[in-house]
Amino acid sequence: MTTAIIGLGNMGSGLARRLAGNGNLVLAARNEAAATTLAQDIGAKSASVDAAIAAADTVILALPYDAALALAKSGALDGKVVVDISNPVKPDFSGLAFGFDTSAAEEIQKAAPGAKVVKAFNTIFASLFAAPRDNTANVPVFLAGEDAALEKVETLVKNAGFAVEKTGTLDAARLLEPLGMLNIRFGYGLGRGTSIAPAWLSV
Ligand SMILES: NC(=O)c1ccc[n+]([C@@H]2O[C@H](COP(=O)([O-])OP(=O)(O)OC[C@H]3O[C@@H](n4cnc5c(N)ncnc54)[C@H](OP(=O)(O)O)[C@@H]3O)[C@@H](O)[C@H]2O)c1
Repeated sequence: MTTAIIGLGNMGSGLARRLAGNGNLVLAARNEAAATTLAQDIGAKSASVDAAIAAADTVILALPYDAALALAKSGALDGKVVVDISNPVKPDFSGLAFGFDTSAAEEIQKAAPGAKVVKAFNTIFASLFAAPRDNTANVPVFLAGEDAALEKVETLVKNAGFAVEKTGTLDAARLLEPLGMLNIRFGYGLGRGTSIAPAWLSV
């Protein structure tokens, strides 16, 4: 499996560090020099955005939602398993830009019908990637998606050092994106900090 990470900000670089050494990893960002530096640091490859996508079977869009949607519309993601991690938060952080009857993941899927989109990682803060792996082994990463694409992303989540919590087909992203927003509210608005993450209990 070759995984491309597009966008190397807080989430993309954290995921890259967690995934380094697990199969082929190609890093790409609009700042190609930054991608090269990080790739050398962690023993991954780097490439242009187009070349990284072409080389990969699984593409993680570690981008703001608008940039992820634009890439989906370009046709570059056709035939790929696409991991959408976005929370489509309004610029003033007052809430989500949309929800209830669609989701960022479903909009990306509509824009790239030749891809298979899976929602993942949107309910955890980037700071968790810097924690010791043992600390995150039981932290759930909620997945929405199906079939072989879901199986690939399950493997990826485990390789990144997290637990898998499957929520059903991609429309479950309508629920996961508000959950991500709630986590942001806990972390920032309610002052709980960015080491928290939601989990479901069975009692
Ligand atoms: N941060 C979190 O804790 C967290 C948690 C859950 C989900 N998420 C989601 O994860 C995604 C990434 O968040 P982040 O915190 O990693 O953001 P970030 O630190 O701002 O990094 C965003 C990355 O996207 C690139 N980018 C921005 N606009 C772009 C454009 N128009 N075209 C191409 N590349 C563009 C940036 O490139 P430059 O460096 O060149 O600007 C950077 O590499 C977002 O959708 C966010 O909602 C974040």
